[in-house]
Amino acid sequence: MKFLSSGESHGKALAGIIDDFPSGVNIDFSYINNELKRRQSGYGRGKRMDIEKDSLEVLSGVRHGETIGSPISFLIYNKDWENWKEKMAVEFSDSKAENTKDLKILNPRPGHADFAGYTKYRLDDIRNVIERSSARETAVRVAAGGFAKILLKNFNIFVYSFVTQIGEIELDFCDSYQELNEDIYLRAEESDLRCPDEKVTDNMKKEIDAAVKKGDTLGGKFVLFAKRIPVGLGSYSQWNRRLDAKIAHAIISIPAIKAVEIGNGVSSAKSSGINFHDEIFYSVEEGFYRKTNNAGGIEGGVTNGEDIIISAYMKPIPTTSAGLKTVNIKTKKNESSLKERSDTCAVPSASVVGEAMLAIVLADELQEKFGRDSLPEMLENYKNYCKYMKNI
Ligand SMILES: Cc1cc2nc3c(=O)[nH]c(=O)nc-3n(C[C@H](O)[C@H](O)[C@H](O)COP(=O)(O)O)c2cc1C
Repeated sequence: MKFLSSGESHGKALAGIIDDFPSGVNIDFSYINNELKRRQSGYGRGKRMDIEKDSLEVLSGVRHGETIGSPISFLIYNKDWENWKEKMAVEFSDSKAENTKDLKILNPRPGHADFAGYTKYRLDDIRNVIERSSARETAVRVAAGGFAKILLKNFNIFVYSFVTQIGEIELDFCDSYQELNEDIYLRAEESDLRCPDEKVTDNMKKEIDAAVKKGDTLGGKFVLFAKRIPVGLGSYSQWNRRLDAKIAHAIISIPAIKAVEIGNGVSSAKSSGINFHDEIFYSVEEGFYRKTNNAGGIEGGVTNGEDIIISAYMKPIPTTSAGLKTVNIKTKKNESSLKERSDTCAVPSASVVGEAMLAIVLADELQEKFGRDSLPEMLENYKNYCKYMKNI
């Protein structure tokens, strides 16, 4: 599956097209709408999320609740559009141009695409950059990810996330990742910060409250994991078919994600071969298995049957209410950056976007291995493959 998104943050709607999604998949729209809701929640988010109540309007590719193999297109309306109709009008009118000409933004925000976007596209208003580079676009990713998760569910594959760090506050989490299970995820779902530990959640909230007081913002870290992944997704045969590379691309494409780690990739640099690599064992009951998962489920760019484990590091939100120093592009005078309504911390939301991106990559790989056209065909091929795996 592939997807494209379009839409401005304060335009009428965001739009998505998913291409190459198999036929025969039952789509539960309430599940996808709930995914959109999960992206919108989290302690530390700004007032915009009080306005938007995202939900999906599907235009094509699904009939009587089931996919038909055609492109799936959908809209997510921006409720805030009502307040921006004039500023974000699509059609030209003299009066709208006159009313909005003094609202042009010319002081680029550090940490955003503002300066480079204004220059690259030869624009005369940074508003045009802000609107598309905004993380509002990630709502489309989460909706597309909802379709991907539904497809994965048919293979009993689930993707989970939880938050392990906000600013300086870190969850002390076992390095070997042997504790990863659905329970961690369920506890994360109960937390306003998607952190599975209540006490740490409270400390994280205090950290956010302190940042709000200072007009500052925070980043953090989240972990993604996917369970019951078959051996053999991805390939070592070409650089761009390696699954770890595809996942890193997908996750680092999320706005503000600045580093991606596969398994214990960061500490591998200071570990030794004997300590780091996950030795292989066999038992009749379990088949081939590992006692550790430092590789995060991927060796040589291919899944090895263990859980996929990814960590993502998010920088602090660039829009701070205290402002940051910048320069007006026209006057060249020093100014403070724009303080548009903004989140203080969006790590929990980013983790939900991370789940979506990981699900999309895995759904695409599953199709690559078991067929792109129809779910029944994929399931047949998958069953045969499982039989083959049992007998090797
Ligand atoms: C879910 C989510 C919400 C975000 N909310 C904001 C926000 O309210 N204000 C802001 O300045 N940046 C926000 N960001 C981060 C910016 O979108 C991002 O830093 C910016 O687009 C520049 O991209 P880069 O950080 O990848 O270079 C958010 C990111 C995510 C993933």
